[in-house]
Amino acid sequence: MSDRATQANIGVVGLAVMGSNLARNLASREGNTVAVYNRSPERTDLLLSEHPEAGFIASKSIEDFAASLSKPRTAIIMVQAGRGTDAVIDQLTEAFEPGDIIVDGGNALFTDTIRREKAVRATGINFVGAGISGGEEGALNGPSIMPGGSAEAYETLGPILSSIAAVAEGEPCVTHIGTDGAGHFVKMIHNGIEYADMQLIAEAYDLLRRVGGHEPAAIADVFDEWNGGDLESYLIEITAEVLRQVDAETGKPLVDVIVDEAGSKGTGVWTVQNALGLGVPVGGIAEAVFARAVSSKPDQREAVQKTITSRPEIHSASDNFEDDVRAALYASKVVAYAQGFDVIIAGALDYGWNIDKGAVAKIWRGGCIIRAQFLNRIVEAYENNPGISTLLEDPYFAKAVADGEAAWRRIVSTAALSGIPIPGFGAALSYYDSLASTRLPAALVQGQRDFFGAHTYKRVDKPGVFHTLWSADRSEVETEGSGH
Ligand code: 6PG
Repeated sequence: MSDRATQANIGVVGLAVMGSNLARNLASREGNTVAVYNRSPERTDLLLSEHPEAGFIASKSIEDFAASLSKPRTAIIMVQAGRGTDAVIDQLTEAFEPGDIIVDGGNALFTDTIRREKAVRATGINFVGAGISGGEEGALNGPSIMPGGSAEAYETLGPILSSIAAVAEGEPCVTHIGTDGAGHFVKMIHNGIEYADMQLIAEAYDLLRRVGGHEPAAIADVFDEWNGGDLESYLIEITAEVLRQVDAETGKPLVDVIVDEAGSKGTGVWTVQNALGLGVPVGGIAEAVFARAVSSKPDQREAVQKTITSRPEIHSASDNFEDDVRAALYASKVVAYAQGFDVIIAGALDYGWNIDKGAVAKIWRGGCIIRAQFLNRIVEAYENNPGISTLLEDPYFAKAVADGEAAWRRIVSTAALSGIPIPGFGAALSYYDSLASTRLPAALVQGQRDFFGAHTYKRVDKPGVFHTLWSADRSEVETEGSGH
């Protein structure tokens, strides 16, 4: 049994790059002594040999690992989401005691976290699903952390996570998101927004390349310039780096030798699936997921290309084309974030979480993949009016979109006329126009549904629910239906 002097206040299970970096980050902070364990001991030995300064307390068994932790024992699991996580949870539940804390720091699906939290809580042990964003660099130097779980667990865990989180505007990028799966739910939304952001940037690049006629290095300069303004963000910054990279083997821009088929570990898919279930439009995120899917169907793409004899001429760029693209990118980004926060609102209602949207925007200002100045505007929007039904209602964002609207329309029409796919820009503009339209063709859809399914409809000129006797004399009757 370890004595107190060699006991740790926090432990990490799973020492692949993310886990090792998180352990090193924890060990580098005043007041932390870090216990580490990995199923294959070679990784543990490697971490200790490469980082003797960290003062890790290493164990070769989960039992010894548990014994090396001071109470309430607190361990962060950093293994591949899925069955591996369940196996480690079972082992820790066996070795831990009531009051101890098990944290899943992987990209788990929030419904798995809800299930796990309920099962582990039944043993008296706390279970926390924590989204950790920022990749390997973030894990080492400061991630954005989105823990769920009980307030009791956060009393112990909060200060430890605050000691390693990124800092934005003087505040650690971590907050207690809400109970059970709330943390992993918000991390899922972060990733959905990340997909949309990346897709919009890719579409802006494609337009600057194919309509603007710029080479990748020149486009990198444009992104660098945009990174000095409203579009300042990690994703804009790294885009310039990727576009500037030259392939050593061919001397070509690296982006031109990368196969144009985008992968996905599935976190964006989860966002769209759950938004659909919650009835929340997320066209920007969905089109980003679908764009990756389309790109990964080379056979279909080739088959269609074979049927085509000519493609449209590229329409000449407008005088201030670059600025039009920038404005369209910003407006579309506003829509994507507004839709992402709409899912957070709907999810919190559905799952009984009390999620502070302003606090979520605050911890996304640093450490995570979507970190950006832009998030300060979202913080202000929710501080000024917590009850807004959409970020597009906020005066700052309403003006930003209105200011960029004409450019946005020029870009979408130029792309359409030039045969350039802009699923993200286009979906965002149609979403905005749907919200902005005083009458939508949904009235006709209601008529169609009533014709073939007697699903009933409401009228604009009087209360009640109605049905037309389409297969009889086509008179209208009032009915008890829902009208929806
Ligand atoms: C982060 C990243 C991280 C990972 C995602 C995206 O927040 O640090 O989002 O979670 O890179 O899984 O990967 P895919 O694009 O493959 O879904």
